[in-house]
Amino acid sequence: MKVIKTISEVKKERHNLKGTVGLFPTLGFLHEGHLSLVRQSVRDNNFTISSVFVNPMQFGPSEDFDSYPRDFDRDLTMLEEEGVEFVFMPSTQEMYPEGYDTWVDIENITGKLEGASRPTHFRGVTTVVAKLFNILEPTRAYFGQKDAQQLAVIKKMVKELNMNLEVIACPTVREPDGLAMSSRNTYLKPDERKAATVLYRSLKLAEKLYFEGERDALKIRREMTSLIQQQPAANIDYISIADNETLDEVDKITRPVLVSLAVKIGKPRLIDNLVLE
Ligand code: PAJ
Repeated sequence: MKVIKTISEVKKERHNLKGTVGLFPTLGFLHEGHLSLVRQSVRDNNFTISSVFVNPMQFGPSEDFDSYPRDFDRDLTMLEEEGVEFVFMPSTQEMYPEGYDTWVDIENITGKLEGASRPTHFRGVTTVVAKLFNILEPTRAYFGQKDAQQLAVIKKMVKELNMNLEVIACPTVREPDGLAMSSRNTYLKPDERKAATVLYRSLKLAEKLYFEGERDALKIRREMTSLIQQQPAANIDYISIADNETLDEVDKITRPVLVSLAVKIGKPRLIDNLVLE
């Protein structure tokens, strides 16, 4: 496995590759959830490139960029074991040299849910992902359903900017008790870790109500809210039942919807979601 730090060198390597190329972009501090995407890419493509870059542009001024967990040596060992051929690990300076001024900004869909409390987040994500697509020219790029809004935003960007690649959505990988795997789970104290299962339990409650015939989104949200509020450590940021493509909130469930939520458990803010169809 080759680890490459500069754009010029990785472009050169890319142009020598004959066959399909899968891209797995990550901030690093890998876990089994990430590896499921890597494995899918290795299965689907002749070559897999992973980018490991803690992208400062997607962290707000009061967010955890400096303290975001990092263990690049461990990440590289894990990627090598999965059969990744190239890792692109640029510096901030390499991606955003002094005087950098160009942004990819998707409107509307980025102002809701995660975007409502993180106003510059998606502009940072779409800008770095567009740059990675231009630099690495993947045949396919792999993203997790765990970050459902990110996935919807990237799909929209690829479609509307006519980008020449396929976005592959991969299912959320969970701990045995249902908690969605996330690098931020490492911030949870033991009692918070237990309380954190309430996110998935509330999603399963929504699913159960839906399967029993409930179609009133407000009623489902109310039931989820009261379940979560039983956990003293939990502080709800939002619970949303929205169209799976536009992310517009719905009153009645008549087509596939994304049920998603963000809840602070102690300090860490966790997100999770489930599609009802
Ligand atoms: P990161 O948080 O490192 O996640 C990398 C990819 O792994 C994302 O597509 C995310 O949805 C997926 N992922 C994370 N946890 C998962 C889980 N439990 N199950 C399945 N997939 C999971 O998301 C980012 O990085 C960044 O925003 C990035 C796209 C790299 C742009 O900087």
